[in-house]
Amino acid sequence: MNTLFSLDGRLSVCASYVRKGTSLADVGTDHAYLPIWLAKNGLISSAVASDIRIKPLKAGEENIKKYGVEDIVKTRLCGGLDEVEPEEADDIVIAGMGGEMIVKIIDNASWLKNSEKRLILQPMTKMHELRSYLCENGFEIKSETPCTHGGKYYTVICAEYSGETMSFSPSFAYIGKLENNSEYAREYMRSVLSKLHKKRDGTAVSGGDTGEMDAVIKEIREKFGI
Ligand SMILES: C[S@@+](CC[C@H](N)C(=O)[O-])C[C@H]1O[C@@H](n2cnc3c(N)ncnc32)[C@H](O)[C@@H]1O
Repeated sequence: MNTLFSLDGRLSVCASYVRKGTSLADVGTDHAYLPIWLAKNGLISSAVASDIRIKPLKAGEENIKKYGVEDIVKTRLCGGLDEVEPEEADDIVIAGMGGEMIVKIIDNASWLKNSEKRLILQPMTKMHELRSYLCENGFEIKSETPCTHGGKYYTVICAEYSGETMSFSPSFAYIGKLENNSEYAREYMRSVLSKLHKKRDGTAVSGGDTGEMDAVIKEIREKFGI
């Protein structure tokens, strides 16, 4: 009997947003840790673990066998959700990828525009672009939870389709639904600030208008006391 592993900080938060008994798609599954962990804990009814590359998918397949969850977790070699049918997944996790790639994957799967589907997204970069895309395309950001992994801070976004295009402030794209209620949130916002400062200084050097970025920086500093 193999003892079950623990999920890392990012994947634990993703798991916390998965609805009990759901059908899951884990896009870019790699080692398939998330669906295996959920299956072993009796938290999902089925899962498609997909990856665009054969090598990570094979690693995932080996782990699925090792933990004996072949009946629940199936693998799929495909880009994004290209080979996943809408009936196969109500909760969709896309974790450990750049925000732009996550946007592409969502944009290529029109069946996600359904209020019964839940998107659980953990971008490594370009979180502001992902939030902007969601708001502009009728996906409501329900909640966000900061997390840490490998000494870095990230956010996990939970979104569902409402069909309403949401108008949002420039600062919302950077802060999202995060609140000043934990050290993780403050650390995450410190990392956002540091990137924003670099971007702002680059814009200033090239003679661009930094007004909007200055306002966002000020709002983040005030809201998070950093
Ligand atoms: C850094 S790993 C993340 C693994 C896991 N989701 C996690 O968060 O720990 C990214 C995985 O996504 C896969 N990937 C990258 N682009 C993809 C795409 N467009 N569709 C499906 N999988 C993709 C890669 O092959 C890789 O296995």
